[in-house]
Amino acid sequence: MVDYKQRIAEIIMPAAGGLAAGEIREMVEAPADSKLGDYAFPCFKLAKAMRKAPVVIAKEIAEKIKDDEIFAKVESVNAYVNIFLNREHFMKNLIGEALSRRENYGRSEMGKGKLAIVEYSAPNIAKPFHIGHIRSTVIGHSIYKIYDYMGYDTVRINHLGDYGTQFGKMICAYRRWGNREDVENEPIKSLLSYYIKFHEESEKDPSLEDEARAIFTRLEQGDPAEVELWQWFRDESLREFGRVYKMLGIEFDSYAGESFYSDKMGRILDMLKGKGLLVASEGAQIVDLADYSMPPALITKQDGSTLYITRDIAAAVYRKEHYDFYKNLYIVASQQNLHFQQWIKIIELMGFEWAKDCVHIPFGLVSLEDGTMSTRQGRVVFLEEVLTKAVEKTREIIVEKGVNTDNIDETAKQVGIGAVVFNELANSRIKDYVFSWGKVLNFDGETGPYVQYSHARLASVMRNAGGQGVESSLDIENCGISFITGDSAFELARLIYDFPSVVADAAEKYEPSIVSRHVVDIAQAVNRFYHDEHILVENQEERNAKLALVYSAKTVLKNGLGLLCMEAPDKM
Ligand code: ARG
Repeated sequence: MVDYKQRIAEIIMPAAGGLAAGEIREMVEAPADSKLGDYAFPCFKLAKAMRKAPVVIAKEIAEKIKDDEIFAKVESVNAYVNIFLNREHFMKNLIGEALSRRENYGRSEMGKGKLAIVEYSAPNIAKPFHIGHIRSTVIGHSIYKIYDYMGYDTVRINHLGDYGTQFGKMICAYRRWGNREDVENEPIKSLLSYYIKFHEESEKDPSLEDEARAIFTRLEQGDPAEVELWQWFRDESLREFGRVYKMLGIEFDSYAGESFYSDKMGRILDMLKGKGLLVASEGAQIVDLADYSMPPALITKQDGSTLYITRDIAAAVYRKEHYDFYKNLYIVASQQNLHFQQWIKIIELMGFEWAKDCVHIPFGLVSLEDGTMSTRQGRVVFLEEVLTKAVEKTREIIVEKGVNTDNIDETAKQVGIGAVVFNELANSRIKDYVFSWGKVLNFDGETGPYVQYSHARLASVMRNAGGQGVESSLDIENCGISFITGDSAFELARLIYDFPSVVADAAEKYEPSIVSRHVVDIAQAVNRFYHDEHILVENQEERNAKLALVYSAKTVLKNGLGLLCMEAPDKM
């Protein structure tokens, strides 16, 4: 596909006072108001080198570059060169690309030969998998999809919280107050209730804490009785998490959680010692980070046990050795900013130049309309319940509105879950937000269901036109391109054209909302085009051209929804 910014840069270059084409390309803009042009080139920066006023430069450039097949009109307005593309040239270029790459339109090979680890979700076993976890889970999965789409090799890791002193407490509590059947029926709710009970009781009887510590020490030493219970808690929890992942269509390549690193600590401690980084402090060992304006990192406790941060250091070293990553991405809440700054700094101090490739990707807090959640007080909203409820409510809406579907359950699932997921990805990840059913299930305006609906509308046009057979017969040679140069067709095509660079931008910024905003823009342009143009006309060339645009838009919406972990139903 022609890179128009690049072409423009090359055409401007001889008249731009010695600037390189690459530099010019960076300066080419797309004006917000399309009346001003499809592209614009501001001349302010050339003034110094060319010793002329920007307005004069703009005028000269505009005059010099007027005649090129890619332009319809070039004019200078103040210090800007405004460029209007030759729409036929543009449409031919875009539709040609979309028809030749078909469902692979937008995929790139930019990441070829590079491996990106994407770590996300990472819930703690035996604890609720609640609405707060949706953020890491969905943002992470979308980032994985985006990297995959850009041709990277990827490894999806679920760094489960499956280790630490709390498991001593859990086992202690289970032995005293638990029963097997309850855990089998409702693992997490039961385990959580034992855990809460442990905290209540240990306030009255502090010896429980000692007992729990002793159990954890035995667990660390591999005592079969303790390991067996721990393993069982882990299996039961994973079964429950698995149901949610299945609903969301999420899979992982590895569930190597914190426990996976328990036997890899000694070597890490030796490395830290070898580099002279460990300092004894009241029986514990720390890394002093005062030079970097951070509090010290606690590496081992008085009793010698390791901590969350020690396991993160071990995990990073393991991942580098095992996967040789190009990037190691962590989608973890912004509450853990300091934790990540600390351990990534420690990796750097250990002499690993790849510390710079470990990236914490934080996101903001989700709260409920009636306040924040509290696991201890039982104020949690289980993610599974949210998803189930979204599907049920969507089903009601489908029945009420008489939505077109062959399989109401399947559509309710695709749209209901899609609505929840899109709601997560609609805003910049770093923003805090309040979870509200009213917002999630509002299907009008800039929502996931609206984008899905726009896709279904295009699918319906293709069906009415003759379906698969017609789709595969479309070819740039049988399309009358001059019939799709009207404003709404051209605006839609511009957005389709921009899609690959939008995805690249989202990857660079680790920001799925860049994709979600773009697919909403495309959906709106689709609906304008649908409103303005009669698509299934008699004239075969006109019809083909319009169908080719419909097909391209449908493909891009489907791919865009895919990057947002959403399905694209053909009917709704
Ligand atoms: N299990 C942790 C929690 O729920 C999140 C783990 C994040 N990942 C990491 N490598 N530290 O808070």
